[in-house]
Amino acid sequence: MVLNVPANRFLIWGGNGWVAGHLKELLEKQGKEAYTTTVRMEDREAVIRTLQEIKPTHVLNAAGCTGRPNVDWCEDNKEATMRSNVIGTLNLTDCCFQFGIHCTVFATGCIYQYDEEHPIGGKGFIEEDEANFDGSFYSFTKAKVEAMMKFYSNVLILRLRMPVSDDLHPRNFVTKISAYERVVDIPNSNTILTDLLPASILLAEHSDTGVYNFTNPGAISHNEVLTLFKKHVRPSFEWKNFTLEEQSKVIKAGRSNCKLDVTKLVNKLKEYNYEVPEVHDAYEACFKRMAAAGIR
Ligand SMILES: NC(=O)c1ccc[n+]([C@@H]2O[C@H](COP(=O)([O-])OP(=O)(O)OC[C@H]3O[C@@H](n4cnc5c(N)ncnc54)[C@H](OP(=O)(O)O)[C@@H]3O)[C@@H](O)[C@H]2O)c1
Repeated sequence: MVLNVPANRFLIWGGNGWVAGHLKELLEKQGKEAYTTTVRMEDREAVIRTLQEIKPTHVLNAAGCTGRPNVDWCEDNKEATMRSNVIGTLNLTDCCFQFGIHCTVFATGCIYQYDEEHPIGGKGFIEEDEANFDGSFYSFTKAKVEAMMKFYSNVLILRLRMPVSDDLHPRNFVTKISAYERVVDIPNSNTILTDLLPASILLAEHSDTGVYNFTNPGAISHNEVLTLFKKHVRPSFEWKNFTLEEQSKVIKAGRSNCKLDVTKLVNKLKEYNYEVPEVHDAYEACFKRMAAAGIR
């Protein structure tokens, strides 16, 4: 007897966003059924109506208030930031729970900063470590909502950091740092989307839940990134550094710098025969793809 197993149906929240666009493209390439929505997450009636209409098996929540031109915006718009990142995110997860829908949240690892126990070059933060960075209101909301939301049994929380695409989209971390007048030089965990987004679909399809640090293994400094960028993409590129103290004078909110431990993610993905390359190797490959596409 052939069982009539319903196919997965993905609904991507935050439909006009950058990560959401990549998810849609990826799912379509994989031949999967994917829908997007721009319904506000905090609008409970509209969320419920959308879930009832589309009947997804999986929600991919790539919606969130990220601020424009950057997270400094959240410092001056605290209520709007909370409405999206706390009330909205929790509401969407709760509505999915009520309907028995798996919900993957594209969250952030920018809730940590290097400390005595986790120094530069030392051990990374694991999923169970309490957030220790609230230097920006954006990170503050993200850390608080994660700490509550993780108790939902239908939720998979993926902590991205400084995401990088294979193009020079304005939201790409490389685009940002290559356009700054001066950059700090600190090792960080980064998420190369080409490596990690397929992993997010795998985890969702297996109905995995819980919190995962969602970056390539290792940490890479700004100068190492830009050196590889110069080598493969833009040979004429030059940049200048400044210190954290100097940086703090030109930004309103603090920025997180940290390394995440991805042992949990790597071990889980081994079960699905999926490997995520070390961050330096991942950048080499990413910049080679960029160059091959004629991006300079
Ligand atoms: N890019 C990064 O550096 C980075 C790093 C780590 C984690 N993340 C997280 O990953 C997620 C996606 O990021 P992204 O870079 O793709 O950001 P993005 O391009 O700003 O996309 C976010 C989308 O969410 C929508 N949105 C905001 N508040 C909403 C709400 N209350 N209800 C419904 N939609 C809402 C926005 O629409 P409107 O513009 O109409 O509000 C926007 O289209 C975010 O949660 C972000 O915090 C991003």
